[in-house]
Amino acid sequence: MNKQLKEDLENLEVILNTVKAKSIEYLEELNDTKTSSIFKNTTQDKLPQIGIGAIEALNKFHKKYKELIVSSSGPRFWGYVTGGSTPASIVGDWLASIYDQNTQGINGFGDISANIELQTINMMLDLFHLQEGDFLGGFVTGATMSSFTCLAVARQWYGKEIEMDIAKNGMKNNFNVLSATPHSSAIKALSMLGMGSTNFIKVNTIKGNGEAICLDDLEEKLKVLNGEPAIIISSAGTVNTVDFDDFIGIEQLKRQYKFWWHIDAAFGGFAACSEEYQYLILNWDKSDSVTIDCHKWMNVPYESAIFFIKKKYSFLQTETFQNSNAPYLGNPFDNFNYLNLLPENSRRLKALPVWFTLQAYGKEGYAEIVDNCISLAKDLGHRINSHASFKLLAPIRLNNICFTLNNFDKDEEVQNFLMELNQTGKVFMTPTRYSGVQGIRCSLVNWRTTKKDIDLVFSEMERIIQKKPAANNT
Ligand SMILES: Cc1ncc(COP(=O)(O)O)c(C=O)c1O
Repeated sequence: MNKQLKEDLENLEVILNTVKAKSIEYLEELNDTKTSSIFKNTTQDKLPQIGIGAIEALNKFHKKYKELIVSSSGPRFWGYVTGGSTPASIVGDWLASIYDQNTQGINGFGDISANIELQTINMMLDLFHLQEGDFLGGFVTGATMSSFTCLAVARQWYGKEIEMDIAKNGMKNNFNVLSATPHSSAIKALSMLGMGSTNFIKVNTIKGNGEAICLDDLEEKLKVLNGEPAIIISSAGTVNTVDFDDFIGIEQLKRQYKFWWHIDAAFGGFAACSEEYQYLILNWDKSDSVTIDCHKWMNVPYESAIFFIKKKYSFLQTETFQNSNAPYLGNPFDNFNYLNLLPENSRRLKALPVWFTLQAYGKEGYAEIVDNCISLAKDLGHRINSHASFKLLAPIRLNNICFTLNNFDKDEEVQNFLMELNQTGKVFMTPTRYSGVQGIRCSLVNWRTTKKDIDLVFSEMERIIQKKPAANNT
């Protein structure tokens, strides 16, 4: 055995205790850690001929890279849609590394850790008020890969409708894909699937200030297809304004027209946890597939998302993802094995952080996280709208705030305001364009965020805007 490896093996307790101490220190300082960093160190790390062992590597890493680490899991990292990590999810994540399973099977030789994944999926179905028997779920790296997985099965379904086995023979056709406000990642999935990122039919949104699909226009566009199949990508929470498509209306159309119905519920699906807001996802159980991110509102470490695909399509799913030329894996249609059901073959026990956080905090814990974020978003939205220098670009429907400056002349004024705000290191928000207007958006999904954070951020916003020339300050 290599000398450094042997020493590390003998020193395991010291190594893990040192990491534990550093981790606790980091997590205790998280509220005050900066939300942005400017990394200046450009020296290239050299591959050593003789290694330095784990403790020295840890010291070296901290010395060089600690300043690079931003509080993306902290309470005021509101850019994109960025969750944090609950204590229990960190336990699960650590143990996933310690156990280092290659999670695939449930009753084969060797690894059977997929049993834990299936148990976790069933708890997730319960959390989201979906029937256990209806959907097959699995873990992937993020919502992008979840939509990729769902749309790959949709593509296979589509092929069958036109008497083609696309997984086997490739594509010779175009696809009718319809969507109103798809997230960029769904479009990326279309591109990765060879269906073409520009080959989707844009459905109008409802008139007024919204991003939800206009059902009349959807029906018009389905009619024109004249019986050809289609794939509909709908939204349970658009990324700018958290708008929800009308799932009752889409289901009614599904009775008359032939389409695969996919729902991107990356973070909006968590409305299911809130008694007050669960009406938003009513009827989503009638869809064919659903994307849900766990590293957003569920607050487990990156990379974690799940797909739910109706069990009645398991055959198509296996056709799409099977490893058909590996006899040692057995018949993919007989043996349940995740490697025949999703993109990755080798995979870590991704379910473990979710298993832990669900056991630790339960339905009530998630209802509180979700309701807290919504009420804080409404509070911040109210303050923004009541201030002479800011205005909301859309109503606060759930947990995102999309706003801009009042009376600005050039987009740069909004961009500069945002840059200055982010440079404080106290909060991180992201730019957007909404209805043609330069805006700023933030998304509250972190379990740690409190009213104190809203106070702090809003006072920074006021301080910065007060320094601006009069045009913005009236
Ligand atoms: C609605 C929606 N769908 C999909 C995604 C993509 O998620 P991921 O980055 O986990 O792939 C996001 C990310 O913000 C999102 O908000």
